[in-house]
Amino acid sequence: MALILGIESSCDETAAAVIDSNGTTLAARIVAQRIASQDDAHRPYGGVVPEIAARAHVEVLSPMVGAVLADAGLSLDDMDAIAATAGPGLIGGVMVGLVTAKALAMAAGKPLVAVNHLEGHALSPRLADPALHYPYLLLLVSGGHCQILVVAGVGQYRRLATTIDDALGEAFDKTAKILGLGYPGGPAVERLAREGDARAVPLPRPLVGSGEPHFSFAGLKSAVMRAKEARAADGILRQAQDERVEGDKLSGSVRPEPVDGRQRYADADIAASFQQAALDCVVDRTRIALAAATPGMTALVVAGGVAANTALRGALEALAAQHGLPLVAPPPKLCTDNAAMIGWAGAERFALGYTDPLDVVARPRWPLDANAAPVRGAGVKG
Ligand code: KG4
Ligand code: ZN
Repeated sequence: MALILGIESSCDETAAAVIDSNGTTLAARIVAQRIASQDDAHRPYGGVVPEIAARAHVEVLSPMVGAVLADAGLSLDDMDAIAATAGPGLIGGVMVGLVTAKALAMAAGKPLVAVNHLEGHALSPRLADPALHYPYLLLLVSGGHCQILVVAGVGQYRRLATTIDDALGEAFDKTAKILGLGYPGGPAVERLAREGDARAVPLPRPLVGSGEPHFSFAGLKSAVMRAKEARAADGILRQAQDERVEGDKLSGSVRPEPVDGRQRYADADIAASFQQAALDCVVDRTRIALAAATPGMTALVVAGGVAANTALRGALEALAAQHGLPLVAPPPKLCTDNAAMIGWAGAERFALGYTDPLDVVARPRWPLDANAAPVRGAGVKG
């Protein structure tokens, strides 16, 4: 049996967990976990401020490690290895977690496992569902990333798709900001969308219908902004068609009426229409990837913060069923950033003998598939 201490600090959650890799249920695998959100510190700025994040990690992390070990009724000496996120992420925060892990590893004479945060998300479904086997098709949707990957094993990732501009979570967060819903935005947009009419606002579906399964959400965000500015719906339509993203389509279900320029859309209708447009994009893109990846996949898997979205999970469940595959989605608390997924990825790596030297570096960028070809039109993200 391997006991792993996991540490996560790459964005705005400080988290520590003790994982028992031999546990056969989720509860048995997560021996103890703690998480401290920095939402309150960042809320006044409408987004994560890196310097504030790093300082908050420093204040919280060391006592949290002591507390989570106490929760588990274990000591550092009982651990078999110490795993920490080594990137990608906000570099100040990543360094706080990684340096803390190095110090603990050195003091206790334990091996260090440097974990790619994205690998934490990618393998978290196996933490939640012991019956999930490789290879699976993974939709990884978070605040910083939006990718589709074939996960063939630990460290074996083939990227089929990425975003050429914004990540899906970023699109939710920007929509929340436009609607004045505050930070963090995704859950607030989802809540408001439940009260709105998803057909009320005509919005573009960027890249829907294109042959490669890549994503683009910048044009959708701009259209949301114009809807909020209460421009006439026909104006929105024209501008959406002007978006330079190849393959843009408007939903066939929405036939906007020419309306008075003073027309105001209800915020709930904008939220619902945005969420529907984003989901239509995700389902269409994932369908293309499924066609490319199956047969051979054991499941369609969704992970990352946006996987907490109930409407997304429902849409993907239907898509997976059409392909004769189960949808595996971790419980929402394992979708957003946490240390259990880092401890688990550390446990999977440790079981294969992968450990890292104490001089391993923190990396602000660290793709899961280093061989993935750059995408035409893509910016710095990916
Ligand atoms: O994985 P995560 O916690 O952090 C990153 O690694 O980025 O993902 C955070 C993202 C944020 O953009 C947040 O708005 C989004 O996940 N999110 C949601 C929901 N819960 C979190 N988006 C839509 N619906 C949700 N219920
Ligand atoms: Zn994340």
